[in-house]
Amino acid sequence: MRAWYLPGVITLHALEATLAEGKAPLKVVWVKKGELTPQGEALDVRLGGLLRQAMAGAGFKGEAGENLLLSTPEGHFLLFGLDEDPRATGGRLAQVLGKLSFPEVLVEALEAYPLAEGILLGAYRFDRYKASNKEEKPVAIQLSGANPEEVERAKKVAEGVYWARDLVNEPPNVLTPEALAEAALSLKAFGVEVEVLDEGAIQALGMGAFLAVAQGSENPPRFIALRYAPEGARERLDLVGKGLTFDSGGYSLKPTEGMATMKGDMAGGAAVLGAMKSAALLGLPVEIRGYIAACENMVSGRAYRLGDVLKTLSGKTVEVMNTDAEGRLTLADALAYAERQGAKRILELSTLTGSAVVALGEEVAALFATEETWGKQVEEAAKKAGEKVWPLPLEKAYREKLKSPVADLKNVGDRNGGAITAALFLAEFVTVPLVHLDIAGPAFAKKAHALGPEGGTGFGVRTILNVVQGLGKV
Ligand code: BES
Ligand code: ZN
Ligand code: ZN
Repeated sequence: MRAWYLPGVITLHALEATLAEGKAPLKVVWVKKGELTPQGEALDVRLGGLLRQAMAGAGFKGEAGENLLLSTPEGHFLLFGLDEDPRATGGRLAQVLGKLSFPEVLVEALEAYPLAEGILLGAYRFDRYKASNKEEKPVAIQLSGANPEEVERAKKVAEGVYWARDLVNEPPNVLTPEALAEAALSLKAFGVEVEVLDEGAIQALGMGAFLAVAQGSENPPRFIALRYAPEGARERLDLVGKGLTFDSGGYSLKPTEGMATMKGDMAGGAAVLGAMKSAALLGLPVEIRGYIAACENMVSGRAYRLGDVLKTLSGKTVEVMNTDAEGRLTLADALAYAERQGAKRILELSTLTGSAVVALGEEVAALFATEETWGKQVEEAAKKAGEKVWPLPLEKAYREKLKSPVADLKNVGDRNGGAITAALFLAEFVTVPLVHLDIAGPAFAKKAHALGPEGGTGFGVRTILNVVQGLGKV
């Protein structure tokens, strides 16, 4: 398996120089509702009013992302409309710069950290399977007035997000459960302990639900256990991520449209891996454990059936009433395993239900918490990261939808409140505080957006990192 890396198409550097004196061949000039920044004003004065004249002449208003390139004897200038959100500004700018061919660009760092993060996220591309597009020229962006430490932090965070996106974008014939485990093993180089359990070990442990989902595939499952334990860590966080490298639905087969993006059904696991990589790079002072039950949900003569009764690691039995509700089965065993390992609190991320997408759309993840304080902590962290989450209730009245005549539980309720019954199902397998993020909507973008192209978004990585940062301060 190839090495994973942060492509160097756009490099970011903190710089002392200001816009007015900088020597870069392209200068970005911020405009907000028709107004220049003080630095932009100074530049305009130096240029004898050239910028204002051009703005008036072209009817340039400085709406978010609006841009105008001026090539003058005095140099090249890119007038650029600021977004309310500096991350989105950075992301949009990176996408515009990717289309221009200036090797060096000078940018005034207004809000340095979110701007830097946005630029890096916006510069992401996934083109390793395209024969064209190979000879891209690198763009060096100089952030004037930025704190070099903030730029370095943004790079380390982006590295984790890039990796999570790459893992989601890799096709399912390449990113098999074994390949995902292989990718996880690369974290050893960053001081993370990685343990990979094969089918025999998974069976010996008694993960009957996970194994049942996996048994229809020719590609064997892997259980991935990660541990990042920096010296002196006083807090601990346990992460669980859904790891379906492909979800066909099994015998409850998905239609083509529903199946087409199911390579992304390991996005929760990818977020766990990405966050652990960034946490290790940043040296965050919190112990982090991560668990991913990686497998494929396929159809074959060996595949699990509707009506099968499975014995989970927790001891509870589950009657399968829909083979497409497979994520919760793999997660039941991963969650029980996390608790066995001594988890104090668990944050779990999964592309779990279409129902969460119906409820909240493509941009907002559903948040479920078995304990309020822990729920609020994650909600706050997501807000800071600019990742949108919204709480839904773990409504106990719906618990009866999961009653089975033959087993302790069945794996689906009815159509109504599907995201909630899925969350209630997960909650059956843990006693410590659990936050479940259903990221089925925001994990995979159907079209390009301010912070990146269509495909994997890396949703969750930055929320996890903010949770860890919060715990590190306690
Ligand atoms: N992986 C899907 C959920 C999903 C749907 C993720 C759309 C991303 C986009 C999950 O395994 C699934 O199929 N869930 C079923 C559950 C149902 C059978 C109770 C669903 O949501 O339809
Ligand atoms: Zn499914
Ligand atoms: Zn799934």
